[in-house]
Amino acid sequence: MRRTILTAAALVGALTLAGCGTGQGSGTGSGSDKNAGDGSGSAAELSVSASYMPRPVSADMAAGFLTISNNGGTQDELTSVTSDVAGQITMHSTVGGAMEEKASFVIPAHGRLVFRSGGNHLMFEKLRHRPEQGQTVTLRLGFAKSGPLTVEMPVKSATYNPSTGR
Ligand code: CU
Repeated sequence: MRRTILTAAALVGALTLAGCGTGQGSGTGSGSDKNAGDGSGSAAELSVSASYMPRPVSADMAAGFLTISNNGGTQDELTSVTSDVAGQITMHSTVGGAMEEKASFVIPAHGRLVFRSGGNHLMFEKLRHRPEQGQTVTLRLGFAKSGPLTVEMPVKSATYNPSTGR
């Protein structure tokens, strides 16, 4: 019986991932900190950290995670993510366990926007090749105000956990 329950849980997980590209709806916010930082004047100053892609278990779809920090006094918005490795990259939030595609995510003034497993995430679709552990995927991030940023995203194991580094 226990085995049945575990199998059912794994199936639900697989279905959730498979449904990842079809999310839509009207949800609220990005999950990032709210910050009324307008008015302090300094432009957004963006930097990227903690980026990684778990080695994809599917040949045509992958997830990606990163943190974008804003050391400036003006909020900005992440509006596009592109890469030569994928025909399309979409940005998703996770609300109540359901994925929702978003056109943009706010990066608050003096705050950060976090994409992490179980929360906001990038979905790489129509993969042109399947990234392997140890390789690097190049991303270009587009913003509403700031110039574009290039990110070299390392490919980790399929079960990589950033808090343990394994
Ligand atoms: Cu998703």
